[in-house]
Amino acid sequence: MLKGKHIVLGISGGIAAYKSAHLLRLLVKRGAEVQVVITPAGKEFITPVTLSALSGKPVVSEFFTANSGEWHSHVDLGLWADLMVIAPATASTIGKMVSGVADNMLVTTYLSAKEHVMVAPAMDLDMWAHPSTRRNIETLRADGVEIIEPASGELASHLVGKGRMEEPEKIVERVESFFRRSASLEGRKVVITAGPTYERIDPVRFIGNFSSGKMGFAIAEECAARGADVALVAGPVSLSAASPRIRRIDVESAVEMHDVALRECSDADVAIFAAAVADYRPACVAESKLKREGAEEMTVELVRNPDIAADCGRRKRPGQVFVGFALETDSGLDQAVSKLERKNLDMVVLNSLKDKGAGFRTDTNRVTLVTRDGEAAFPLKSKRDVAADIIDAVERMAGYGQP
Ligand code: C5P
Repeated sequence: MLKGKHIVLGISGGIAAYKSAHLLRLLVKRGAEVQVVITPAGKEFITPVTLSALSGKPVVSEFFTANSGEWHSHVDLGLWADLMVIAPATASTIGKMVSGVADNMLVTTYLSAKEHVMVAPAMDLDMWAHPSTRRNIETLRADGVEIIEPASGELASHLVGKGRMEEPEKIVERVESFFRRSASLEGRKVVITAGPTYERIDPVRFIGNFSSGKMGFAIAEECAARGADVALVAGPVSLSAASPRIRRIDVESAVEMHDVALRECSDADVAIFAAAVADYRPACVAESKLKREGAEEMTVELVRNPDIAADCGRRKRPGQVFVGFALETDSGLDQAVSKLERKNLDMVVLNSLKDKGAGFRTDTNRVTLVTRDGEAAFPLKSKRDVAADIIDAVERMAGYGQP
């Protein structure tokens, strides 16, 4: 499973570092080439001799080899790696990763890593629960880092609670699942619409909505991480896409989004309509700023916008999988089912504005995936994890990766 995969194993200074030797052994046994990078504090807990014997490679810790002056390139390591796993990650290392304090080889390698990064935190329960750690973990997540949550149990302090590094076998499962997923959309084109649309009234005003684009961007990153070529048709949002596999096409209005989406969908394997498209636009756009002087009331005549998902759905060819969203103010299952039919979609992602933590501008979402075969409800998760659930369902439906 891991044959020929290049993994950088970062070890920082916590008691759990003793488990890293076992983790290293499991990775090597499954065929991975592992390069260990250890922090100075990490060496207080486990010796480089043990680690280099298990990995078959000298352990990297210092920027230079003291006697020869040879420089160890974190950039080369970052490029070599298909995956970086930091286990254990202490509160201090996590804090340095968040703020870019690159004073050791582990953090410099992290900052140079081009591919996926997983972090398995290990610390005392109070440190794990501290607002500083909570903030840092959320920031890492937002930066695209996968967090392997610590388990609960007895800690080095003899206190009992959450903070134990996840067991090496479980970490290896996550590593294997990453490599399985990382190729599951290779050679596939995915089109995603995201964000709001702005419908101009005059040169300074528009009709818009509260969509942040976060859900659509999370789906784009997830598809890119699985090897897809992504066309992200984005309305006006203040987000940036991290993966070079994402080709972003910025649009402003529904009509512009409609044109681009129709074009991009013609040769797509999958299309996901996550944009909050304005249903109406002003019938005409004033050339100069509308004045309020002398006008007690104002009427803006609106005309209907095209339904992007429905128009793309009408042109859908066999084998293409199209997914829409339904944001409802109540449970909305019936509406989701009727949207499947009306827009010729294969799946509708239903989320309710009533759910705390779901909907616009949040980093989390709670969804129900509705298909013609029934529905599956998921708990509240980060938008990136919701994206993974959606893409898992799409892959199953499309039969990708099936023999
Ligand atoms: O009909 P409703 O707006 O509830 O449907 C929501 C779904 O349809 C979303 O997937 C949204 O992106 C898509 N949609 C669209 N173009 C519109 C309106 C909605 O693509 N004009």
